[in-house]
Amino acid sequence: MTMTITDPTENGIRSRAKRLKAATIPVHEGVDRSIMSTASFATLGGYRQFLRIQYLFHRDVEALYADTRLRGAFPDLAGRCRMARVIADMEDLGLDLPATEAPAFTLDTPVDLGTALGWLYVAEGSNMGAALLRKEAQKLGLSDTFAARHLAPAEEGPAPHWRAFTAALDAVPLSEAEEAKAEEGALAAFARVQAHIDAHIA
Ligand code: HEM
Repeated sequence: MTMTITDPTENGIRSRAKRLKAATIPVHEGVDRSIMSTASFATLGGYRQFLRIQYLFHRDVEALYADTRLRGAFPDLAGRCRMARVIADMEDLGLDLPATEAPAFTLDTPVDLGTALGWLYVAEGSNMGAALLRKEAQKLGLSDTFAARHLAPAEEGPAPHWRAFTAALDAVPLSEAEEAKAEEGALAAFARVQAHIDAHIA
């Protein structure tokens, strides 16, 4: 499966979400290629490796979903966290949780708002690709209630779920410096996913 991630510029005007999308096209394509070229969805063994990557990345960002400041900006933030669903998927397949280095964020380490928004954009945006990956997982016999729970769409549907997130993301006032941090954060989040892939997928 391949995809084209299109540059979302419309009439020269871009929302923050669209700017982040444009800035991360090359790194997103890299992650996409790595995951698909290792045939993650061709065999259950490949899917198990993919789940490990998902675990590591969602563990990285889990603390952001509990951040009081971010919860103020995104009222439904707690319900968006997919860590518990990733863990349930791993349990369905009898996978042990990997012993690993510290997550990127922890509850007691302060993170600046711009950086946090950039990472959150990547974590939430990955739901968009999940719609495709869910179809592939179904071919392996997995489902929304067994081993592919974290790829299941939100109740209201993936597009409205994403629009609600990007509207809230766009509404957070940021200084120019914080705006730059958001872009750096989004790039760092993709780099982190790529590093997990490089370290954990043969
Ligand atoms: C953990 C790995 C991944 C992360 C972190 C990730 C991240 C993202 C992000 C942030 C977006 C939102 C783009 C926007 O702003 O609209 C997105 C969309 C998308 N992703 Fe991924 N992605 C991942 C894996 C994949 C894979 C493996 C595929 C393979 C098919 C894929 C396909 C897509 C597609 C088709 C979209 C929609 C693109 C569009 O609207 O133009 N993603 N992903």
